[in-house]
Amino acid sequence: MPHPNRDPLREKLIVALDLPEPAQARAMVERLGDSVEFYKIGMELAYGGGFALVEELAGAGKQVFLDLKLHDIGNTVEKATAQIARLGVRFLTVHAFPQTLAAARRGAEGSALQVLGVTVMTSYDDDDLAAAGYRLDVKGLVALRALQAKEAGIAGLILSPEELVATRALVGGDLLLVTPGVRPAGAALGDQKRVATPAEAFRRGADHIVVGRPIVAAPDPREAALAIQQEIAEVFA
Ligand code: C5P
Repeated sequence: MPHPNRDPLREKLIVALDLPEPAQARAMVERLGDSVEFYKIGMELAYGGGFALVEELAGAGKQVFLDLKLHDIGNTVEKATAQIARLGVRFLTVHAFPQTLAAARRGAEGSALQVLGVTVMTSYDDDDLAAAGYRLDVKGLVALRALQAKEAGIAGLILSPEELVATRALVGGDLLLVTPGVRPAGAALGDQKRVATPAEAFRRGADHIVVGRPIVAAPDPREAALAIQQEIAEVFA
């Protein structure tokens, strides 16, 4: 059952709770209050006691993106995905290998969990792929895996802002496109090299944006989140 207060526009912003301790993450969620409806929990927090937080957030009507980037034999991925679905998670990432995609889709069947495929890690360049034995360059492998994700019937893809336009043209409207690397105009880049503003990301075809430091490291996180929500509301007005 959707939560009575769910607001699809507010759910376009996903805040990355990149904090080491569940207590810090809880305090951040408290500060952000109703300015944020959707949170991403990554490996650091999940393996540092964050699974309890997943259930707390889901129980409080928030949407949860568990960014665990699963990759194992099909049987294991399917069963792990089914367990994650029982926690009330909305998005889960898996590496976009055909067996892994198909297994995760089976594991999520009959639940509200939506599987997102990670095409190629953005820390990899063409030389890294060649060294790992791939024939394709980054662009070619992203395209192949995007099509394989569509073929596998999963819900969407996570990809950088600069891949949005080409990927949307390739996969059409069927897949959700979720992008990190988003910075409000004038914000510090941190280690993000290829960035888009929230408005640009949505104009390029994103369905959701993932924003971490510009909100969680802001002097006033709630104000920073509300400013991005306002920018999103203007794009879709
Ligand atoms: O703090 P920042 O807004 O850069 O956080 C972005 C989030 O998205 C982090 O959780 C980061 O791990 C994740 N991410 C990313 N780039 C990728 C994949 C994931 O920034 N290519």
